[in-house]
Amino acid sequence: MCGIVGYIGKKRAYSILINGLKRLEYRGYDSAGISLLNKEVKIYKKKGKVSDLEEYVANKDISGNIGIGHTRWATHGEPNDINAHPHSSMNGHFVLIHNGIIENYTRLKEKLIDRGCTFQTETDTEVLANLIEYIYIKGNVSAEIAVRLALSKVVGAYGLAIICKDEPDKLIAARKGSPLVIGVGEGEYFIASDATPIVEYTKSVIYLNDDDVAILGSDGLTLKTIKNDKLTPKIQKIDLDIGEIEKNGFDHFMLKEIFEQPRSILDTFRGRVSLDKNEIHLGGLFNVLPKLKEAKRILIIGCGTSWHAGLVGEYLFEDLARIPVEVEYASEFRYRNPIITNEDIVIAISQSGETADTLAAIKLAKQAGATVLGICNVVGSSIPRETDAGVYTHAGPEIGVASTKAFTAQVTVLAMMAMMVGYQKKEISFELFNELISELNEIPAKIEKILTYNDAYLEVSKLYKDATNFLYLGRGYLFPVALEGALKLKEISYIHAEGYPAAEMKHGPIALIDEKMPVVVIATKDKSYEKIVNNIQEVKARKGVVIAIVNEGDKIIRNMADHVLEIPETREELSALLTVIPLQLLSYHIAVLRSCNVDQPRNLAKSVTVE
Ligand code: G6P
Repeated sequence: MCGIVGYIGKKRAYSILINGLKRLEYRGYDSAGISLLNKEVKIYKKKGKVSDLEEYVANKDISGNIGIGHTRWATHGEPNDINAHPHSSMNGHFVLIHNGIIENYTRLKEKLIDRGCTFQTETDTEVLANLIEYIYIKGNVSAEIAVRLALSKVVGAYGLAIICKDEPDKLIAARKGSPLVIGVGEGEYFIASDATPIVEYTKSVIYLNDDDVAILGSDGLTLKTIKNDKLTPKIQKIDLDIGEIEKNGFDHFMLKEIFEQPRSILDTFRGRVSLDKNEIHLGGLFNVLPKLKEAKRILIIGCGTSWHAGLVGEYLFEDLARIPVEVEYASEFRYRNPIITNEDIVIAISQSGETADTLAAIKLAKQAGATVLGICNVVGSSIPRETDAGVYTHAGPEIGVASTKAFTAQVTVLAMMAMMVGYQKKEISFELFNELISELNEIPAKIEKILTYNDAYLEVSKLYKDATNFLYLGRGYLFPVALEGALKLKEISYIHAEGYPAAEMKHGPIALIDEKMPVVVIATKDKSYEKIVNNIQEVKARKGVVIAIVNEGDKIIRNMADHVLEIPETREELSALLTVIPLQLLSYHIAVLRSCNVDQPRNLAKSVTVE
């Protein structure tokens, strides 16, 4: 939540900041602002998108080689011009931008008010700005010392970029709980919440750790802890291409990412699954494999779409590896005194690798002695660094707020894990293992084929774009897909939708069904096929409209449903990878037809770094 960008060097900071904010807008987009330092400090901030800020800044003085920028997802104080970042301290010595929450800000604010501080905004960030300035003036110390001392009094999470007007040759960055990356260029430095604003200028980056403070200046970079212990910066090369973070001719990132799935799934299993040798090799799990094979229980944790992938993982691990699995919302898990032992394997799933609840749940599981594995997409993010071992999804950057290719990549990793463990445990035969491997290999081509039916999904979308409610039904492996389909529709088109296990429909949702209720039934051929055919009959008997996802050539359901959307057949263990594609496209088209902002749906953010 919230995107941070900063620049210090010889170039004009403005365009670097604005472009960076556009790349980070997926993290929050209710207001945006920049501050530029050129002898004096200028602050421009505006409610709305980065484009509103750009319009506002036109004809203003945008000179300066040092600057910071912020795109906000509000936590404290409504989204308006005043609460937008950057925030200045009372006497204007410091200007800062912040991602995270200062949890003890009320107490700090009261103390500062007692000492004569005044406040212009309702934000926790302004409290921090004033605290730093108070220490700076009272203690007569340098900006860096004031920042470190102030941060030692803060409870909560922060990613910060700070300008001190009296020390105009430096920028200060600090991190605790909210991600920050430093880009190292030729005589220039960049600060950003993730590498996307940096990659077009340099591939050399330093990922800050919790409690790190970086001082970036014309004379170089100093890295230390807030306690003043000097650190040696670890410069890493990032493997991220600029083309991967642009729309490449698609109208929206979400559509581009849906269409990327044949490739992103292939990238996720490429080099890990060997058809010739009938082998699955997940290097990141090598050291924990014996533990994984002996696990008495696996706990899977995640939020949102990642939680849905976890549900598919439950079926996979139980079916193929015969290990009992519990799937938990990270936010519930961490607050309910869960029973965790050192025999447990915890798998944390997260696209961003930064979700606050998932991170906190990981810490809890580690404290209890569990072995914690991560399945993440963003390389170098916090979760892979917190976990004992893990597997990257290699889906490439996902910019659309509604997750698509990350989901299929997560399911691909879970399938590989369950297949590998199941085979090594001798729970599945060589023949089945072999068949699953060759079927996984076919998935990208089958998705290519589904994508060629896109026009059919558009036509159905036109018919139901004005519906106010949707029901999604699935059984077995397809129940989590029903949940995911409903979530996609809610997220981007603002239509109420519910996902349900098809058989549970009789215990409530059936009362909602009438001729105005589209019911999306995922009814591909698997062991529940006949049961789901009965569920379709039950919906039709109540005059519900059935949109069925079926296998090519299905005649039985074609005769009952109002619309059938055909997809190729696959084994049921991998069926989530195909059936979710029409649902992603359905929600995409409906949202576009309703003129919704597909890539930046209201109130949402891609990376939820607050609990
Ligand atoms: C937000 C995003 C979702 C995502 C969820 C979990 O709600 O909008 O798309 O599924 O966070 O994020 P993670 O990065 O942990 O997968």
